[in-house]
Amino acid sequence: MAGVRAILVVLLAAATAIGAFANDPDMLQDVCVADRTSGILMNGFSCKNMTMITPEDFFFAGISQPGQITNNILGSKVTGANVQDIPGLNTLGVSMARVDFAPYGLNPPHIHPRATEIIFVLQGELYVAFITTNNKLISKVVKTGEVFVFPRGLAHYQKNLSKYPTSVIAAFNSQLPGAQQFAAALFTSNPSVPNHVLAQTFNINEHKVEMIRDGLTPK
Ligand SMILES: *[C@@H]1O[C@H](CO)[C@@H](O)[C@H](O)[C@H]1NC(C)=O
Ligand SMILES: *[C@@H]1O[C@H](CO)[C@@H](O)[C@H](O)[C@H]1NC(C)=O
Repeated sequence: MAGVRAILVVLLAAATAIGAFANDPDMLQDVCVADRTSGILMNGFSCKNMTMITPEDFFFAGISQPGQITNNILGSKVTGANVQDIPGLNTLGVSMARVDFAPYGLNPPHIHPRATEIIFVLQGELYVAFITTNNKLISKVVKTGEVFVFPRGLAHYQKNLSKYPTSVIAAFNSQLPGAQQFAAALFTSNPSVPNHVLAQTFNINEHKVEMIRDGLTPK
């Protein structure tokens, strides 16, 4: 019995360790500031010459102010603070974002393929949820100063249910978490997903597919 328990503990520890490494690769040097001009295509970005790095490579002011909400249907704006904005984040395995919500604004169902997300509510209250692969909805209303976690790769969304603006800061365990919105991916991809595929997927007719597609296409 004790032997079995010991094996279980070892297996659990191994699984945890594998889980802990299942994010961005570990760094092999102090820094590797992304050199966007190098033209070398690789996993991540090639490094800038160390003699050329500056404090600006590790700095970003772009989430100090609320993002401009231009999408009136969704009423939310995600402003990234990842390796595309902060070259010094290359190989460091972390990034942030800020999300601002208009009254009743929605950050629609999406996934981050490369990161777990943890949000901190700067201001307001937000209805948040994620969905497990068994289709269990885990939801909660979170308030100013509170934190909520969205596990890596799971569908999730955030909505402000009231008439006041609200905002959150998000942190990710990837330099570039990536985001895929379900509605946009299925209905506004280029080239398009064929109507018959979407009609069959959602058990609706192709006319309704066209209506959804039309509603999501920027005018
Ligand atoms: C980095 O820059 C220094 C100073 O300009 C130069 O001497 C050195 O050769 C450069 N290193 C590489 C790998 O280009
Ligand atoms: C955003 O929506 C919530 C409802 O979940 C509401 O309670 C909150 O007051 C709203 N925002 C702000 C800034 O208060």
